[in-house]
Amino acid sequence: MLDPETQKNLIARGREFMKHFSETPYDAFESDQDRKLPQPPLVKAPMRVKALTLPRKFEDLDLRQNLFTLLIERKSSRVYTQEPISLLELSFLLWATQGILDVRGRAYATLRTVPSGGARHAFETYLIVQHTKGLEPGAYHYLPMRHQLEFLHPVEDLPSAVTNSLMGQSWAAKASVIFYWSFVPYRCEWRYGIWAHRPALIDAGHVGQNLYLACTALGLGTCAIAAFDTALCDALFGLDGEEEFIVYTSAVGTISAANQKFEKVFYQFVEDEGL
Ligand SMILES: Cc1cc2nc3c(=O)[nH]c(=O)nc-3n(C[C@H](O)[C@H](O)[C@H](O)COP(=O)(O)O)c2cc1C
Repeated sequence: MLDPETQKNLIARGREFMKHFSETPYDAFESDQDRKLPQPPLVKAPMRVKALTLPRKFEDLDLRQNLFTLLIERKSSRVYTQEPISLLELSFLLWATQGILDVRGRAYATLRTVPSGGARHAFETYLIVQHTKGLEPGAYHYLPMRHQLEFLHPVEDLPSAVTNSLMGQSWAAKASVIFYWSFVPYRCEWRYGIWAHRPALIDAGHVGQNLYLACTALGLGTCAIAAFDTALCDALFGLDGEEEFIVYTSAVGTISAANQKFEKVFYQFVEDEGL
């Protein structure tokens, strides 16, 4: 446990970090792009030799399409019925959150289903798959350029690994799939240098929101998760924690109307404590 003084200092440092974005004059800095240094790759190279091409016939999905309904029905769901989702549904979720629509120039930038400051798109998508038809449970990496999924490795005692990586949030271990997004800092720093981290933080929100909306369209439940153990998450996918590390996670699972009453349990303390 941190002592109150250390906690206060850390919070002050966090605020200072956020403030320096607005206080540092933009022309006080020369980026690696200004210095004509080579641009880093737009996406991470495949980590395995083989990859599965994901189905793309999204017109076969029974999607709710009314934006007003999607916005009203979007919510966090943490009670899952543990049924498998289809490969096409998973494919749609990957496409909706990081799918590539176009490439600018030869390899200057990707344009995707989410916006990104300067089209830097500095995230990679990793999955822990538990219940998806046609997929072996384990750790996966998404290859957005080819819309493929590569199997990384099986994970021993998957529910415990998920729960531990998410700071004991055992409800998430009942998800069909858990998304873990990493940040590759240099992809953004190459252009924005000391300012890179502000657009990256904002960009993560776009990805999470698209997952919420895509899940709502499919009738699946999801919940964004920021309470995760970075070191354990990085270890799950073999990330070095410096050039690439997990910054955001979300659980996705099947839900039922009958189960929705249990959702209230998560916020029962609000009523119990009269907050
Ligand atoms: C960035 C972010 C991190 C979150 N982290 C967690 C989390 O670790 N655990 C959790 O149960 N809910 C988490 N949530 C879900 C929020 O608690 C939820 O969005 C909020 O209570 C509002 O409820 P709603 O999404 O149903 O509108 C997170 C949401 C966001 C956007």
